[in-house]
Amino acid sequence: MTNKPLIIAIDGYSSCGKSTFAKAIAHWLHYIHIDSGAMYRAVTLFALQNGLYKNGKLDAGKLISLLPEITIVFKKNPRTGNTETWLNGKNVEKEIRSIEVSNHVSEVSKIPQVREHLVNLQRRLAGRKGVVMEGRDIGTVVFPHADIKIFMTASPQVRAMRRYKEMLEKKEHSTYEEVLKNVIERDRIDSEREVSPLRQAKDALVLNNSKMTVEEQMNWIKGIIRKKLAEQNDKENAD
Ligand code: DC
Repeated sequence: MTNKPLIIAIDGYSSCGKSTFAKAIAHWLHYIHIDSGAMYRAVTLFALQNGLYKNGKLDAGKLISLLPEITIVFKKNPRTGNTETWLNGKNVEKEIRSIEVSNHVSEVSKIPQVREHLVNLQRRLAGRKGVVMEGRDIGTVVFPHADIKIFMTASPQVRAMRRYKEMLEKKEHSTYEEVLKNVIERDRIDSEREVSPLRQAKDALVLNNSKMTVEEQMNWIKGIIRKKLAEQNDKENAD
């Protein structure tokens, strides 16, 4: 009996550990993992690199007209096994995680035409394969019929501390207070924006991982996935 591949949507606040969790699930199931936030970050990097900011203000009209010229692909790095983001033929995985991109990405991701363009791309990338996609609107907009929807959350302090430690490891300079401010501000913008705000899908399962290890989170989701696959089998047998 072969199961129909699942679509697993992971949404939630920034720095909740969505990527670590989504990657681990995709690895376990041999599914593809798509980080939709990386796509919004790549478009933001494109805007920064192409002089679309004048006196700190984004020329949204110009960015919209240039959307057809932006090519975003994900490639597996054969050395590390990690999936990396390429923008117009260049590996930008590191650049899209910079504080400069982080500070501009909310503005870019609230432009309706940018969202429409990227949502289409996200649906195409998933194709008919099994996919674990993470973001803010995956369970609500991109795949409203996803088989499993998870909404991740953790306290702003826990998230800021995780992000701060990551930055220290990468030798990026910032203070904990600055990171906490950025986390709170992005939560506000993500949940208050007019187009596709961050909100929990009605049928999403909430995962508050403030006090959970990755292993505990994996044990939790494995139970849910096994149940879903068993339901699918039962349904097929009954048909
Ligand atoms: O997950 P992240 O922090 O890398 O996402 C970067 C930004 O992109 C974040 O501020 C919100 C936005 N985003 C979005 O609007 N919709 C998504 N599906 C994913 C990310």
